[in-house]
Amino acid sequence: MSNRTFTMIKPEAVRAGATAEILKMITDNGFRIVALRMHHLSRNDAMRFYAVHKGKPFYEKLVEYMSSGPIVAAILEGENAVASYRCLVGATNPANAEEGTIRHRFGTDNTMNAVHASDSDENARIEWQQHFVETDIMLSKGAELSKKG
Ligand code: CMP
Repeated sequence: MSNRTFTMIKPEAVRAGATAEILKMITDNGFRIVALRMHHLSRNDAMRFYAVHKGKPFYEKLVEYMSSGPIVAAILEGENAVASYRCLVGATNPANAEEGTIRHRFGTDNTMNAVHASDSDENARIEWQQHFVETDIMLSKGAELSKKG
C-alpha cells in the first residue's frame, strides 16, 4: 500500500553538501517527495521533536547537534513507506548499517547518522506536522487527477 513517511537530512550531511545525493538515493529507490523544506531548528524545536528520548544519555548531545545548523525535512510517499524507507536508511549506528544504505554512505556515528526516519505511520504524521502545514504538502496522485476533473 502506498503511504507516507517523514525524514530529515541532519546538519552534518547538509553541511557536507550531501543533500542532493541523499535526495537522489531516495527518489532512485522509488519514493516520491511530496514536501521539502530546508530550515534551522531552534534548541526548543529539537527538544520538542526528540521529546520521546528525553532523559536518555544521548538526548542532550542530540538536541545540541540537531540545532547546530540547517536540516532538510521531507515527506516521502511510497509502497509501505515507513518500513521500506527504514531499510534504505540502515541501522542507527552507521558502523552497523549495510552497504547501499544512506547511513552507511553518509553517516559518521550514532548522533551524526545522516538522516532521521520515522518509526510508525502515526509518528510520521506527528513529526511532519512540526515542519509543514497542510498546504505545503502535495496531494496524492489519485487526488490530483480527481481534482482536475
Ligand atoms: P533518529 O532516527 O534521528 O532518532 C533518534 C536519534 O537518537 C537517532 O536517530 C540517533 O541519532 C540518536 N542516538 C544517539 N545515540 C543513540 C543510541 N545510543 N541509541 C539510539 N539512538 C541514538
